[in-house]
Amino acid sequence: MSVLLTGGLGYIGSHTAVELLTSNEDVVIIDNLSNSDLSVKEKIKKIVEPVRKLDENSFKVYVGDVRDYKFLDQVFSENKITSVIHFAGLKAVGESVAKPLDYYDNNLISTINLLEVMRAHGVKNFVFSSSATVYGKAKSMPIYEDFETGATNPYGRTKLFIEEMLKDIYNSDKSFNFIILRYFNPIGAHDSGLIGENPNGIPNNLMPYISRVATGKLECLSIFGNDYNTKDGTGVRDYIHVVDLAKGHVCAVKKLKTNCGLKIYNLGTGIGYSVLDIVNAYNQVCGNKVKFKFVDRRPGDIDICYANADKAYKELNWKAERNLLDMCKTSYNFEKHNK
Ligand code: NAD
Ligand code: WQD
Repeated sequence: MSVLLTGGLGYIGSHTAVELLTSNEDVVIIDNLSNSDLSVKEKIKKIVEPVRKLDENSFKVYVGDVRDYKFLDQVFSENKITSVIHFAGLKAVGESVAKPLDYYDNNLISTINLLEVMRAHGVKNFVFSSSATVYGKAKSMPIYEDFETGATNPYGRTKLFIEEMLKDIYNSDKSFNFIILRYFNPIGAHDSGLIGENPNGIPNNLMPYISRVATGKLECLSIFGNDYNTKDGTGVRDYIHVVDLAKGHVCAVKKLKTNCGLKIYNLGTGIGYSVLDIVNAYNQVCGNKVKFKFVDRRPGDIDICYANADKAYKELNWKAERNLLDMCKTSYNFEKHNK
């Protein structure tokens, strides 16, 4: 009996694979390597093997595309899959504005295919990687799960459409269990330094950019705006350590086994840090190597965004445990390992 992770060689999926395997779950991964590579499979094994011996029955990786129905059908036929965590998708907001069709094609078609194959094979447990982006510009902070939703870009709309699709499917067939996890800002890396976030080209997100400045791969961080209505004028976000986030998925898989129906949870720390807070913490860790300058605001950015994560604590028995320094230390450690 295995948990299927689509996109399981990616940033969040690989950390989740480690946490599931060390919690004694068997794991099957499907990934098309569009934003990852096969070396991640060996790295996952290297992290897990001191704790648990792995073989083809406990950990298997398929290279293929979730939009390929025949291929998916074959994976479900060859394995006894009991739950699915759907990470696979494209995730860059700016790119989604430039190439909306790629986002609708990849994110929506993959999800429809997956749900159809699950229905055909009688698999009813599904965790979906959603995002705080579905809250758009929230009316107040912290953000609760029952806040109004609304997306401002094609990437966010794919997340919202899928959330709505899952609600419709659940309304038509209550034997499904759906857990929608809305991640806030995942950062950090595994303590081993073997897996972490490694975007192609110039990073769009704050933490990978800072890491590359700290290791001399990029010159200087541009901080987008210092005139927001926040404590120091820079944008505030709820940064969550990727290992904490991964553990949230182990709790979600456990919850699915209780026939929980459709549930939505914020996964965040509940703490908002500004860009300058992050730079200062990172500088403590790397010895003041993060040079920065202030530039204009980035179009589409909001001033502040942080979660109330009490519902995940009450119902999943999960809460984030790692602090900002842990996030910076592990990011720096990964970046140094990662030539
Ligand atoms: P990632 O790009 O590192 O991982 C996604 C993985 O899916 C990659 O390994 C990629 O090769 C694979 N993939 C993409 N399309 C595929 C397809 N059609 N078939 C098979 N494999 C495919 O991204 P991540 O940061 O790990 O994000 C995982 C999920 O979490 C995504 O759905 C993303 O939208 C969501 N999310 C991410 C963040 C974040 O900041 N990282 C925040 C909120 C939500
Ligand atoms: C964080 C803060 C920037 C880069 C995005 C997606 C969201 C989710 C997580 C997927 C902001 C500032 C950034 C830089 C900067 N992903 N910044 N200089 O925008 O909160 O969220 O990733 O679902 O949907 O929108 O994350 O890391 O890009 O930015 O000053 O070079 O850092 O303005 O205040 P964001 P981010």
